[in-house]
Amino acid sequence: MIQTENLSKRYPGGHQALRNVSISIQEGEMVFLTGHSGAGKSTLMKLIGGIERSTSGSVAINGTKLSSLNRSALPYLRRNFGFVFQDHKLLIDRSVFHNVALPLLISGFSKSEITTRVRAALDKVGLLEKEALNPQTLSGGEQQRLCIARAVVNKPAILLADEPTGNLDPGYAADIVAMFRAFNRVGVTVVIATHDPAMIQGLGARVIELKQGELLA
Ligand SMILES: Nc1ncnc2c1ncn2[C@@H]1O[C@H](COP(=O)(O)OP(=O)(O)O)[C@@H](O)[C@H]1O
Ligand SMILES: [Mg+2]
Repeated sequence: MIQTENLSKRYPGGHQALRNVSISIQEGEMVFLTGHSGAGKSTLMKLIGGIERSTSGSVAINGTKLSSLNRSALPYLRRNFGFVFQDHKLLIDRSVFHNVALPLLISGFSKSEITTRVRAALDKVGLLEKEALNPQTLSGGEQQRLCIARAVVNKPAILLADEPTGNLDPGYAADIVAMFRAFNRVGVTVVIATHDPAMIQGLGARVIELKQGELLA
């Protein structure tokens, strides 16, 4: 479902963030992408999601190479993905409900369909009773669950999460991991980048490790 071949990324300024990374992730898998800070995890996630372009090598999603798509086709491909990325901020002048509804409004869903889907997504992350609140009034763990609801409301086939438990207490982090497992159990392919070994332990999921931009065998 996700295939990279000799993927390399050099940022402007000359930093080589990824070097010849070839990985293959099957439909329905749950995979952890790990490595120290600066290892290239976020870069790899962005290349897979079509947010950054590679310097060389390729990314293919369901057999379609990202480099073969023109600018107008990329948004369609992105609909395969739900992103839980740290730099995707919540709208603090809108309700919890509206934050989750936004991707659906952009996609042009009807009002009743939006209400149904938003409530289903909020229910899955345990925030249904908080739909009218402002995101700023939520705890850190709740805000992170809200980001997950927003990522899954479009029913993506692939969920990409970059450090989704970043600033959370271990108890909350376990909650978040359990949530991702639940999505994975119903068929969603899940890729989680984390520098935290504790998050991965005992889950039996595949681990892909990066070190200084290279795949560790
Ligand atoms: N936009 C950017 N411009 C220049 N260098 C970057 C950029 N983003 C990341 N890097 C560099 O690329 C390397 C890998 O970063 P990143 O993919 O964020 O690693 P990780 O997520 O594993 O911490 C780091 O050395 C980082 O400083
Ligand atoms: Mg990162």
